[in-house]
Amino acid sequence: MLTNTYNRPDKVFISGKGMKLYDEKNNEYLDLVSGIAVNSLGHCHPEIVKTIKKQSEKLIHLSNLYHTTEQSELAKKLVGLSDHDKIFFCNSGTEAVEAALKIARKYGKIKAYGKNKILYMKNSFHGRTMGALSVTGQPKYQNEFKPLIGGTEQCEFNNINDVIKKMPGTCAIIIEPIQGEAGLIKADIIFLKKLRELCDKWNCLLIFDEIQCGVGRSGSFFAYEKFGVIPDMVCMAKGLGGGIPIGAVIVNKKADVLTPGDHGTTFGGNAFACAVGKTVLEELVDKEVIDKVDKKAELLKKKLELLKNEFEFIEEVRGIGLLQGIKLNENPSDFIRCALENNVLLVGAGDNVIRILPPLNVEDDEIEEIYIVLKKIFEKFKGEK
Ligand SMILES: Cc1ncc(COP(=O)(O)O)c(C=O)c1O
Repeated sequence: MLTNTYNRPDKVFISGKGMKLYDEKNNEYLDLVSGIAVNSLGHCHPEIVKTIKKQSEKLIHLSNLYHTTEQSELAKKLVGLSDHDKIFFCNSGTEAVEAALKIARKYGKIKAYGKNKILYMKNSFHGRTMGALSVTGQPKYQNEFKPLIGGTEQCEFNNINDVIKKMPGTCAIIIEPIQGEAGLIKADIIFLKKLRELCDKWNCLLIFDEIQCGVGRSGSFFAYEKFGVIPDMVCMAKGLGGGIPIGAVIVNKKADVLTPGDHGTTFGGNAFACAVGKTVLEELVDKEVIDKVDKKAELLKKKLELLKNEFEFIEEVRGIGLLQGIKLNENPSDFIRCALENNVLLVGAGDNVIRILPPLNVEDDEIEEIYIVLKKIFEKFKGEK
């Protein structure tokens, strides 16, 4: 009945609580995918559930033809956390990227002598819609859908000379400060600083896609804080709604070029999604969950390093904050299958990496549990080889 878009395992999940999931036979699973870095507070967090119940009795949807307190409050909170000035809400990561690309094109048209080229990085992932796909530097996602939108050009990641060569005619550069789908590959701080300088010098916009690495996953609310480089726009989604679909692009004064009629969305930032987003921020920021992410990440990394020392097929532990990965010396799909057979959910990434994405409120004893459970699975996997 469903389009053939995902190779899903033969399991059906019924409920979840924190890091745990339950299938139709009430078998328990450890979820280290978190809905692909979405469930920042775990499954069915009581405060999110409370807000959903309350808001659904008050106001769900109004469209963007009118103001709601929920949207204004979430906007105020997010802008307050940022170095930016305004925000556009949408429903997903790819839509946040689309909005950023349109802003970039308009900026080029009205503020940069009609420049319209958008530079993107090799191995990047920015989403599945045609615009986002056109700046996604991975042929496996693009090839079946060509021709893509024009006016884009790929650059080598972390190679400033390649970017410099391609600057003429450029209105924006889009980059993930840490490439998630590619295998948790960090941008060099120097590279990002130079991109910032280039964007200032050439009058164009620097866009950070923080859809996977943002909203605390890197250990600071915005990943850009970890790199000390402030982009003109930040694309956000995933963890912002704690499971309820929401996306956003936050812009500084320079990138604040949209006027009524330029862009829009029927659903984006409706009262329901924004109420939940606000609750997520209250939990993550006001209750200092994000402040503890670095410490949790340190512990998790230490445990994953222990696994690396024990199993020769683990090549490297890499990542930032609670966006951690284990790089194997082989394609990880067999290991991921073995993990699921042993009631653990894991998701791969490029470069033979398995992502470990616990909720941001993971406790120390849960990190110990992750270690013990993964160790058992690695032992089994070794035995099967
Ligand atoms: C860095 C990045 N950008 C964009 C997207 C697309 O987000 P969505 O699937 O919500 O459209 C993703 C999704 O994995 C992502 O990791």
